[in-house]
Amino acid sequence: MEDEALLKKFQEKIDSGIKIEPKDWMPEAYRKQLIRMISQHAHSEIVGMLPEGNWVTRAPSLKRKAVLLAKIQDEAGHGLYLYSAAETLGIDRTEMLQQLLSGKAKYSSIFNYPSLTWADMGAIGWLVDGAAIMNQTMLAKGSYGPYSRAMVRICKEESFHNRQGYEIMHTLANGTPEQRAMAQDALNRWWWSAIMMLGPSDSQSPNSEQLMKWKIKLESNDQIRQRFIDRTVPQAEFLGLQIPDKDLKFNEKTGHYEHGEINWKEFFDVIAGNGPCNKKRMIDRINADKNGAWVRAAANAYAAKKAMATA
Ligand code: 3HC
Repeated sequence: MEDEALLKKFQEKIDSGIKIEPKDWMPEAYRKQLIRMISQHAHSEIVGMLPEGNWVTRAPSLKRKAVLLAKIQDEAGHGLYLYSAAETLGIDRTEMLQQLLSGKAKYSSIFNYPSLTWADMGAIGWLVDGAAIMNQTMLAKGSYGPYSRAMVRICKEESFHNRQGYEIMHTLANGTPEQRAMAQDALNRWWWSAIMMLGPSDSQSPNSEQLMKWKIKLESNDQIRQRFIDRTVPQAEFLGLQIPDKDLKFNEKTGHYEHGEINWKEFFDVIAGNGPCNKKRMIDRINADKNGAWVRAAANAYAAKKAMATA
């Protein structure tokens, strides 16, 4: 049982908006929640490079290739940044990577879908990074110092990711009939998985209550989802593309879009490992880790040699 007085003081800090720093006292459950969330976020950034990596050699122009490469490199940086934020809580990076490679750790459901055409690069930037920005700008106001500060830098780069994705969709939607059809097909395939990536509905979200009490999360999954939908539907209309939801309608009274039933069975199937690409993503990550072992060995050997020379 944690000391009641310490818990009370901790909650007062949270309620008054004081950031919690690594060396501050914190409830074990606070530390555990943050390690769970930040490590899964980092894993998502790393695995999220795979669907886009599929299109680096297939990009339609050198310029598109350069922009896509820059985005993917950003995602790698976000992953490393977030692993560092998680390490401030006392977990070791190797342990986190082992949790991912052993299939023990989660990463975002969204990255278990295939990227089938070039338009998917647009849909991912527009919808997936768009949803991520909604969520991450909220997390940037969170109570844990290192995580909230990491979000500030990451959100700046996500904005570039989101704009370049929307620009791809705009180019295709205003291109030939085949290009327009490709953009619509990508929207059809990414829309529902993008709104699901923001987490299960609030009634099925066991972590939200505690995360919100401790201001790790400042809004619930459904609140973020609604904000994302409200912002994105007009963007699709501007492109002249149809959101694949026949029940979508704007409610003048509430000022929000109402949407159709979300297929939560699909969501829970995907996070249980049965999505279209879960197996492939894990094989790719395990192979990348194996193929990169010599780089880690060389870097560690160099660091050890340097440490000996200066000892
Ligand atoms: N994919 C996989 N698992 C998910 C999930 C998703 N989209 N949404 C929820 N889950 C899991 C949770 O991890 C939890 O399982 P666990 O207790 O075993 O960890 C369970 O489903 C119940 O969900 P909760 O709503 O209770 O969980 P949270 O309160 O943690 O909310 C979350 C889920 C909204 C994803 C929250 O964890 C979060 O905001 N995480 C940080 C942001 C993040 O991880 N984003 C991932 C995308 S990264 C990205 O998009 C990269 C960008 O560059 C494109």
